[in-house]
Formats: sequence, structure tokens, C-alpha cells
Amino acid sequence: MNGEQGSDKETGKVADKQVALVTGASSGIGAATVRVLSARGWQVFALARREERLKALRDETGCSPVVADITDESSVNEAVQRITACGPVKALINCAGGAIGKDPVATANIDDWRNMYELNVLGTLRITQKLLPALRKSEGTVLIISSTAGIEPYEGGAGYCASKSAERVMARVLRLEMIGEPIRIVDISPGMVQTEEFSKNRFHGDELKAKAVYAGVPDPLSAEDIAESVRWALELPDTVDIDSIVVRPRAEGSYTKVFRNQQ
Ligand SMILES: NC(=O)c1ccc[n+]([C@@H]2O[C@H](COP(=O)([O-])OP(=O)(O)OC[C@H]3O[C@@H](n4cnc5c(N)ncnc54)[C@H](OP(=O)(O)O)[C@@H]3O)[C@@H](O)[C@H]2O)c1
Repeated sequence: MNGEQGSDKETGKVADKQVALVTGASSGIGAATVRVLSARGWQVFALARREERLKALRDETGCSPVVADITDESSVNEAVQRITACGPVKALINCAGGAIGKDPVATANIDDWRNMYELNVLGTLRITQKLLPALRKSEGTVLIISSTAGIEPYEGGAGYCASKSAERVMARVLRLEMIGEPIRIVDISPGMVQTEEFSKNRFHGDELKAKAVYAGVPDPLSAEDIAESVRWALELPDTVDIDSIVVRPRAEGSYTKVFRNQQ
């Protein structure tokens, strides 16, 4: 489809069943994106490591589960081969990622940083590289969910912020390198999004620390808010490239300027 993403006037759904691959689909923003795109008529491949969760999402939305680990070369090779063998792919939505630890630079755990780089930076690079030929062919879109952490660093966040800054730079540079080609590169940088697992994973399962992140904040963003931004950016005409979207809850001016109700 050239210039027009195209949607059915009566149903508002994407006219020709377009194919999207969503990574990090087993929870949070990725799962919400699978739900929103499936409801709009996209055919969605939902990629993550936890098969049971993907199967439940398949039963709910009709998506196609792809069990894969984006930090593993052969796993991603296999997944991309399987997906591209089914036909053209119109969009890659990179949601897989996360924060690990919140320690000062002076004492940060090297393995936490290494794992964030492997997942957020190299994992995103790996799957984007491998799907790029298919996306160029289909006049498609690469979308990366980075973070406001990639724009404004904060204490204890150096490792995560650096990895998210790297993702933003990857999106920006890829966009420059693709100029003249029929492909869009979109970066979405969310602020505080209350998802079930993000902060729990960051604090290595410590529920109290995870809860404290959102304590008293009126209406943090939901995964659905970000999924809706993804849908909007994707369904604009192919000739309109949303370079970068920064989305925050109303109560958040920056990571360190968040309004909280007294508890
Ligand atoms: N929540 C926030 O406040 C916030 C704010 C800004 C940006 N973000 C970014 O938004 C993205 C999604 O965040 P979220 O809140 O939805 O987090 P989440 O609920 O923890 O989701 C992370 C997803 O990534 C998947 N994943 C982790 N490692 C993987 C691997 N090696 N291979 C494939 N998939 C992998 C997880 O599934 P499996 O464990 O099943 O593989 C899970 O589906 C992340 O990149 C995060 O940095 C989040």
C-alpha cells in the first residue's frame, strides 16, 4: 500500500489485513499493543519468552505467539524466518526491554548493566536488523519504545538511562540512514507507565520498592495509553513519519518532578 495506510470506512479497521510483529508481548505495553492492534484488524505476531502467557493472549486476541529470546542470535533468526515465510510484514514494534537495578554508578552491578544492554540495546538492534529487509520491501515501519529515561538521566538510573538513550539514538540514526527509502522509523518515549512487572523486575522482585514508584501518583499512564500512541503513529498514512513522541502522565513533569498525593 503506497502513501495510504488505509482503513475501512464503516468498521474503522485496517482495510487489508496488515501484519505486525510486537516484541515484549507477554506483558505490559507489548501485550496491550497486541490487544489494540488485533482489535483494529491487524494480524499480529506476539513475541516473548513465556509461552503460556502468549498462548493466553492468542486465545484472547487471535494473535500468533512466537516464543523467542531477543538476546539470542539463533532464536531471533528462527523467529524472523518463521514470520517472514508467512508473507509481508508491515510493522515491527520493539517493546521488549526493561530496567534492572537502581544503584548509583559508584556501586552498580556490572551484570545488571550488561543485561540491560543485551536486552534493550543489542536485542532491539538484532531483531530490527533482521526484519529490516522485509520492512523495506513492504514500505513498513520500525517503532521503538524507548523512554523519557533516554532523554533526562536521573540518580540511580545511569545504566537504564544509557540503554534507553542508545535506543533513541538508534531510532534517530536509522531514520537518517533510511532517508529516500519508503520506510518509517518511529520512537515513542513514555514516562511513568504503571505496568504489572516493570518495577518488580527492576527491583529484583521487591514488591515494596516496586509499589513505592507509583505511590500517591494520580493516574500514572497505563499500558493501553502507550498502545494507543503506537496505533495512532502506525495508522497514519505511510508518508507521515512520527519521528518521536514523548508521553507522560499529567502528574509527571520529569522523573524527579512528580506530583504525589499525601499517603
Ligand atoms: N513501565 C514503564 O514505566 C516504562 C516507561 C518507559 C519505557 N518503558 C519501556 O517499555 C517497554 C515495555 O515496558 P513494560 O512496562 O511493558 O515492561 P514489562 O511488562 O516488564 O514487559 C517487558 C516485556 O519484555 C519481554 N522480554 C524481556 N526480556 C526478553 C527477551 N530476552 N526476549 C524477548 N522478550 C523479552 C517480557 O516477556 P518475557 O519475560 O516473557 O520474555 C515482557 O513481555 C520496555 O522497553 C521499557 O523499558 C516502560
